[in-house]
Amino acid sequence: MKAAITTTAKYLPEEIISNSDLERMLDTTDEWIRTRTGIRERRILRDPEKATSFMCTEVARQLLDKRGISADEIDLIIVATMSPDMIFPSTACIVQGNIGASKAWGFDLSAACSGFVYGLYTGAQFIESGNCRKVMVIGADKMTSILDFTDRSTAILFGDGAAGVILEPAREEGFGILDARLYSDGKNGKEHLLMPAGGSLHPASHETVDNRMHYIRQDGKQVFKAAVMAMADVAEEIMQRNNLTAENIDWLVPHQANQRIIQATAERMGIGMDKVMMNIEYYGNTTAGTVPICLAELDEQNKLHSGSNIVLASFGAGYTWGSVYIKWQ
Ligand code: COA
Repeated sequence: MKAAITTTAKYLPEEIISNSDLERMLDTTDEWIRTRTGIRERRILRDPEKATSFMCTEVARQLLDKRGISADEIDLIIVATMSPDMIFPSTACIVQGNIGASKAWGFDLSAACSGFVYGLYTGAQFIESGNCRKVMVIGADKMTSILDFTDRSTAILFGDGAAGVILEPAREEGFGILDARLYSDGKNGKEHLLMPAGGSLHPASHETVDNRMHYIRQDGKQVFKAAVMAMADVAEEIMQRNNLTAENIDWLVPHQANQRIIQATAERMGIGMDKVMMNIEYYGNTTAGTVPICLAELDEQNKLHSGSNIVLASFGAGYTWGSVYIKWQ
């Protein structure tokens, strides 16, 4: 029994930070940002009282509403995030409490930008084993809470956002999440994309704050090269394993980190950009949020049909990367 996505939902905060807003804060230009990344604007959850769990809760409530079920029908809640409200309790538990999912257990999954793809495959295992009937998988990040707005090389890239799905047993054989390939590489990834402090290695101290160690640090060039290679490789692998061709793929849904990384992946797969879901222009990189936000928007626009072949592809800190093949039901 395979797991299928039965419902999608997204939440984006209303407030926009445009490239011209960033021009006023940093030594950068709209033109530089657009040509190097494809981003024009991103969202910010400004209210200091609202964190990642707020966006997840909005998504979870919409999911229940759209599916027409009550919270106590949910068996498991997986929240993929690298900006949890706090290290503990998990954001998943906060969401479970907020929506009153009295029979659900839940946990946070840390795989940065690949979090949703990792979470989707993890959730699918609990459906396939018969242990769960309804699993919520949410990808969410309040990236602006860990962005250094004095660092032009990272501040321009990210935004806040969340989206998620409900997984249930597929109605018919041959539909649902049919295959996945997931990878990690801590040896090469650890140094190039990280938030150095706030964990047990460098607990918060005056020194970690003075040295701006509670913000994202990235070697953009290294990450770019690794992402292009890994996303294209894994997408090609999933195509080969499942006899997928450029013609019979309906949608590539890639992680939205950089328009050029997305184009390179599509090129290697041999598919035209008309089959590639892209909204990086409006939201930037929302980390664990990008892939489910794309899925939710395709769904809203009625672009996903029964039998559609969908390939998800992601890359993120760790490094972590992966691809999932879905036959939409
Ligand atoms: N505005 C203007 N100039 C900027 C800038 C900005 N926001 N950020 C960097 N620059 C400058 C650099 O200082 C450098 O100047 P120099 O040549 O005088 O030294 C120049 O632009 C080129 O910088 P570089 O880092 O080589 O640019 P790039 O083409 O590699 O693009 C990224 C930078 C970050 C857009 C790109 O490397 C990237 O997207 N990497 C992957 C990031 C990512 O996706 N991370 C998440 C992973 S999931």
